Amino acid sequence: MSAGMKPAVLVARAMYPETLARLQQHFEVEANPDDEVFSPVALSARLVGKVGAITTGSERIDAAVLAAHPQLRVVANMAVGYNNLDIAAFDAAGVLATNTPDVLTETTADFGFALMMATARRITESENYLRAGRWTQWRYDMFTGPDVHGATLGILGMGRIGQAIARRGALGFGMKVIYTNRSRLAPELEAPLGARYVDKATLLREADHLVLVLPYSASSHHAIGAAELAQMKPTATLTNVARGGIVDDAALAVALAERRIAAAGLDVFEGEPAVNPALLDLPNVVLTPHIASASERTRRAMADLAADNLIAALTGGRPLTPVNPGVLPLRA
Ligand code: DGY
Repeated sequence: MSAGMKPAVLVARAMYPETLARLQQHFEVEANPDDEVFSPVALSARLVGKVGAITTGSERIDAAVLAAHPQLRVVANMAVGYNNLDIAAFDAAGVLATNTPDVLTETTADFGFALMMATARRITESENYLRAGRWTQWRYDMFTGPDVHGATLGILGMGRIGQAIARRGALGFGMKVIYTNRSRLAPELEAPLGARYVDKATLLREADHLVLVLPYSASSHHAIGAAELAQMKPTATLTNVARGGIVDDAALAVALAERRIAAAGLDVFEGEPAVNPALLDLPNVVLTPHIASASERTRRAMADLAADNLIAALTGGRPLTPVNPGVLPLRA
């Protein structure tokens, strides 16, 4: 890059015009207004000459991509989850990864709770019935489902979002909260929620409504499969607002079809945006297209934070939310 030229960055997916304008003050920006989801080959072509990129969960950046683009210094992921980035490879290459935590916690918790309630109270299923013109009379047992208030809320993955969902359940709906996590919460976090730290078998056995909020990794792949579903109550619901692949969707479809659990609410899917066709045929599953963080304000905050991280990292500032701060300071 010669003196006076702005560094080049890629914004890999469509982006708020205001965010692009801000990035353009600092960088030569290659945007993607058509919102094409790049194949690995197309993504690699777009990364030629770029020192930074804003990505989403749909762009995978691994050791091969980093090796092919040694000029790349920062990848700012517009998501709290970063399982699309191979962080060990980033560390080895001295490339910074950033994510967007905190700004989406409450919005995602709102949605997780709403999806759990919609699942328990059969909102999609009953609305479909009504829209199909099948509602002819009130009936005492029509679309009865499990209660939410007072029930046992099980949380797998008690990070920021898990705790925010637990707060809603405990403080708003009088739910008993049990959770499984890599480590136990500090007593001052547990106490206001009355949350009980349990092992996974207890969580599966006791939860009336199980909500998954853990990051995806090799160790959480199919954390909920046929064996785990078999341990749940037949009246229980399962809600996944974490990542596709944490649930074995094929095993879940079988468990739902055989009513081995009552219902599921899924915002994320293995291989999304493809959805296992067996799930699409079932009445007792609520399906949404990965929108848990999608409030207007929060998506803007995520875009702003990704942009802030990219700008700071490439202009000598301190990125706000680095995933692998060990690579700082970045090479010039
Ligand atoms: C996240 O932030 O990880 C959400 O799933 C959006 O990708």
